[in-house]
Amino acid sequence: MKLSRREFAVGLSAAALATAYGRPGWAQAPIVIKYSHVVANDTPKGKGSLKFKELAEKYTGGKVKIEVYPNSSLYKDKEEIEALQLGSVQMLGPSTAKFAPLGAKEFEALDLPWLFKDDATYDKAMKGEIGKWLFKKLEPKGISGLAYWDNGFHMVSSNRPLLNPADFQGLKIRISGSKIADRYFRDVGSIPQILAFSEVYQALQTGVVDGCENTASNYVTQKFHEVQKHITVSYHAHLQYAVIVNSKFWGSLPGDVRAQLDKAMAEATDYTNSIAQKENDDALEEIKKSGKTELHYLNDAQKKAWQTAMAPTYKWAKGRVGQEILDLLAKELDIKTTG
Ligand code: LMR
Repeated sequence: MKLSRREFAVGLSAAALATAYGRPGWAQAPIVIKYSHVVANDTPKGKGSLKFKELAEKYTGGKVKIEVYPNSSLYKDKEEIEALQLGSVQMLGPSTAKFAPLGAKEFEALDLPWLFKDDATYDKAMKGEIGKWLFKKLEPKGISGLAYWDNGFHMVSSNRPLLNPADFQGLKIRISGSKIADRYFRDVGSIPQILAFSEVYQALQTGVVDGCENTASNYVTQKFHEVQKHITVSYHAHLQYAVIVNSKFWGSLPGDVRAQLDKAMAEATDYTNSIAQKENDDALEEIKKSGKTELHYLNDAQKKAWQTAMAPTYKWAKGRVGQEILDLLAKELDIKTTG
């Protein structure tokens, strides 16, 4: 019998499939999830992402492969959000300060100064009503929120000591995107500037900006402390992440696989949030030991002066993030958010 080329090809692949199916351990090509983020592996988010990869691949029995791209190696801040919406990546873990391009400004309420008392308060709030309410805001954008991760509290730095509000006068401070951060730095007389995370080191080194805020683990892994003479361990605002996925992609996964991934995410979240504080404490120790910068701590009067100077941000916030999230924060955290 003479086979046409097409019949021959179909016959060949059917035979290959039959052989493959018959073999134990045969597996379909795995579902690949590209997960992009901007920080180093040796940070709470970097470690959490690798933990998620390990657990997700284990729980799905290899049906899913997680490709983690750290350190802005695939996309920078703004591009990665676009890439998620386009489906070029399936998962991201941006700080919630970067959600304005998504049209979800309400998340910026989380950047209000001295909002969370400590990491445990943050974790509880985000697992509760506040976290759920905010994730609903993403749904119309084709994005689903899976979890909130923690990276502790911001320090702030420049080449001069920042101890009193007046010390900020005229300084160009890099911020990551939130208008709330823009506001509180303006409250103390500085000039905030949005820059992608991957551009911060060079901007500090060359004087494009004078200062920045970030957590100790980000300072150390990006070497910001090597190009800033003074760091104030102010812990004036919190740095939090939302792990988000493209909803269409997530919804297209087989139910059992999605459940396994949800389990992996829940465990990776607890892991990340449990190491965040120690990772940052260790990083701060490393900064101290490096001798490359001077660390400063606010006394009570200085802290009070910062809080007073930045209080107008709370009043201003209403027009940016809306009353609803401010009321929800006030209720859940048992604080005043009226300024
Ligand atoms: C920043 O841009 O400063 C942070 O959002 C980076 C990060 O993801 O921790």
